[in-house]
Amino acid sequence: MSTAILSALPEEQSSLVQQLAHPQRLMHAGRAFWRGELHDRPVVLALSGIGKVAAATTATALIEHFGVARIVFTGVAGGVGDGVHRGDVVVAQDYVQHDMDASPLFPRWELPGYARTRLACDPVLTAMLLEAASLCVTSASGLWGLKNIHGGAHRAHQGLVASGDRFVATAQESERLRSALRAAGHDVLAVEMEGAAVAQVCHDYGLPFAAVRTISDRADDAAHGDFAQFVQTVASRYAEHMVLSFLQK
Ligand code: ADE
Repeated sequence: MSTAILSALPEEQSSLVQQLAHPQRLMHAGRAFWRGELHDRPVVLALSGIGKVAAATTATALIEHFGVARIVFTGVAGGVGDGVHRGDVVVAQDYVQHDMDASPLFPRWELPGYARTRLACDPVLTAMLLEAASLCVTSASGLWGLKNIHGGAHRAHQGLVASGDRFVATAQESERLRSALRAAGHDVLAVEMEGAAVAQVCHDYGLPFAAVRTISDRADDAAHGDFAQFVQTVASRYAEHMVLSFLQK
C-alpha cells in the first residue's frame, strides 16, 4: 500500500515529482495527484493547498480514493520556539489548532467531540522522520549554502506544532499566540496552516500520520519575505532529501 507525501505548495513538491519513477498524474476533487515510485516504494504525491479545510479535503481524498496506508507531510513552518531558527527542521510530535476556540462550551483549544487539545503523530513514522531530518540538517549548509545566522549547526527539533488559518506575520502575534498556549502547558515550536487538520482526518480514519517542517521564517515582521525566499530556493530540495532518506528506512 502506498505512502502519501503531502506538501502545501507546488514549490515544496517539485523536486519529489522530478524523482518519481513511472509517474502518473491524476485529477481528483479539483486537485492533481501523482502516483509513482520513489526508491521502489509506491507513493502518492499530493498538494494540500493552504489552510486547514483544503488540507482536510486532500487527506480525505488520499484515504478514500487512493487508499493510502499512511500520510507524511513535508513543508515549511514559522519557528516560534526558543532556538528554532530558519533552516532548522521541526518534526511534529503532536498538533494543536491554535485558532480552535469553542469556549465557553469547551475549554479553549479543545477539539469538540475529541475530549483533547492535542493530537499525537504516529511514533514509529515520527522516529523515522526525525532520523532523516537529523541527517538532512547536518548536510544542509554544505548542500545548499544555507547559513545559520545564529552560528552553530542547524538542528532537528521534535515537539508540538500549531496549525491555524492565519499566516503569522508579526512578532507581536507570534509572541501572543505562543505565550497564551504556553500558559496552558502547550509549548509550541512552530506554526503552519495545515498539519493539525491532516492529523485530525488521520485520527478519524485510524491512519498513521507524521509531519516534518523546515523553518522558513520566524513568524515575525520579516516572515513574508523570508517565507517567499525560502520556498523559492531551498524548500523543495530539503523536502526531497528528507523524504528520500525517510523512504529508505
Ligand atoms: N508557514 C511558514 N511560515 C508560516 C507562518 N509564519 N505562519 C503560518 N504558516 C507558516
